[in-house]
Amino acid sequence: MSRHRVGRAGQIDALGSRIAVVGGGEEIALFKLTDGEVLAVENRCPHKGGKLSEGMVCGSAVHCPLHDWKIDLRTGQAQAPDEGSVRTYAADVDAEGSVWIETGERPDAAAAAAVPPACAGLEERS
Ligand code: FES
Repeated sequence: MSRHRVGRAGQIDALGSRIAVVGGGEEIALFKLTDGEVLAVENRCPHKGGKLSEGMVCGSAVHCPLHDWKIDLRTGQAQAPDEGSVRTYAADVDAEGSVWIETGERPDAAAAAAVPPACAGLEERS
């Protein structure tokens, strides 16, 4: 497990995103929720590789900008009926406002699973 400082929380707008590239070429999208929580996921949609960092955030999910798959930012899972997932990364903000992420093997990704509130009006798509 490696810990990386990838910027400052103040550099990410609420419901916005920022890309962090860490060692090994991992491109990671950082998102800040309305409560200030920062979440980090692989910046590649499991459908056809859309840049999730360019998607719209709703609750704790992001809508891929290419075909609107909805990806849970906590679990990395695509919302049914779509299938697939992206890698999630542990992220935290320290007392000075720096954002840190952990890369490498994860002890228990399932523990991070939490069902986000539904995004009313954003569920349907063809
Ligand atoms: S590439 Fe993301 S929904 Fe198609």
